[in-house]
Amino acid sequence: EKITISVIKADVGGWPGHSRVHPALIERAKEVLSEAQKEGTLIDFYVTYAGDDLQLIMTHKKGVDSSEIHGLAWEAFKKATEVAKELGLYGAGQDLLKDAFSGNVRGLGPSVAEMEITLRKSEPIVTFHLDKTEPGAFNLPIFRMFADPFNTAGLVIDPKMHMGFRFEIWDIYDHKKVIMSSPEEMYDILALIGAKGRYVIKRVYPKKGHPIPEDEPVAVVSTEKLYEVAGEYVGKDDPVAIVRAQSGLPALGEVLEPFAFPHLVSGWMRGSHNGPLMPVPLKYATPTRFDGPPRAVALGWQISPEGKLIGPVDLFDDPAFDWARQKAMEITDYMRRHGPFEPHRLPLEEMEYTTLPGVLEKLKDRFEPVE
Ligand code: F6R
Ligand code: MG
Ligand code: MG
Repeated sequence: EKITISVIKADVGGWPGHSRVHPALIERAKEVLSEAQKEGTLIDFYVTYAGDDLQLIMTHKKGVDSSEIHGLAWEAFKKATEVAKELGLYGAGQDLLKDAFSGNVRGLGPSVAEMEITLRKSEPIVTFHLDKTEPGAFNLPIFRMFADPFNTAGLVIDPKMHMGFRFEIWDIYDHKKVIMSSPEEMYDILALIGAKGRYVIKRVYPKKGHPIPEDEPVAVVSTEKLYEVAGEYVGKDDPVAIVRAQSGLPALGEVLEPFAFPHLVSGWMRGSHNGPLMPVPLKYATPTRFDGPPRAVALGWQISPEGKLIGPVDLFDDPAFDWARQKAMEITDYMRRHGPFEPHRLPLEEMEYTTLPGVLEKLKDRFEPVE
């Protein structure tokens, strides 16, 4: 029998500003999910935060896109929003873009990563929770985990992984997807996913012959684009991901290794700047400097045979990631010194805020032809 793991998150209020989630919101969401667990809807759950995003991690047997589970998440966010309003928290309910729930939270504001899987004899997974950045921030690390032999030794030396993996890549502007095979199509894959604002890795699948069935994902990323939902800027769609590990998949350390390099991602201040993705323990998942820099939390779990979440282990709470944090701070300083200049500030078409039309309007009579 299959188990579904659902990670659903929303920003329903920050404390202070857009820095972090107030504990009272976490408590309220826990009450809602706890009730659902008693009623048998959920097998297990865990509620946490990453920056200003409230994070629900749930296991159940309802499959992906279940209206019951999505409705439950919606309910938890609504209830947490009430608390956020009482406390006067900042941007209360900001990611709940529609008033009414209509069967699925996708398109309503929250971000979702879910996978329905047949549990292996032992099922280690990592959930990733990013703040102040966008889904494309996962392209580089997910590619490295499942396709880069310089990251993942198993691709070279584990017979179960040697055939590589398949990548489901979404064009988030044209709402199209394509499945591509690595390593055969590696350069084509990179041609797409290097454009991380447009082409995002949605899922990774094993190939035929792998111990895991071909149609079961081994990694999944949330790909919601909030501005498409809202039609105007309402914050970056801080993404989440679920990655399975070990036994013919990247080892736990191969899953974490890409984050030892704090690569540049877009987001940060006003969703309009490039900055390093800093791997942090939960206690530091609280963006401060220039509303950042963007942060990544990794939680480790074993799923018990009944589907219980055995964890979390706060995986970046480890001195092995100190250098990455140090490097991220150096990059932060370096990027910040560019002030309003690209490539710290995003190019015009990717900015979430702009005054340019107004400035151009003001100057329209003063612009004259060059000779
Ligand atoms: C970035 C983010 C913050 C806000 C900034 C301005 O994703 O959430 O950097 O964009 O704090 O926020 P407002 O416009 O709400 O004052
Ligand atoms: Mg916020
Ligand atoms: Mg956020």
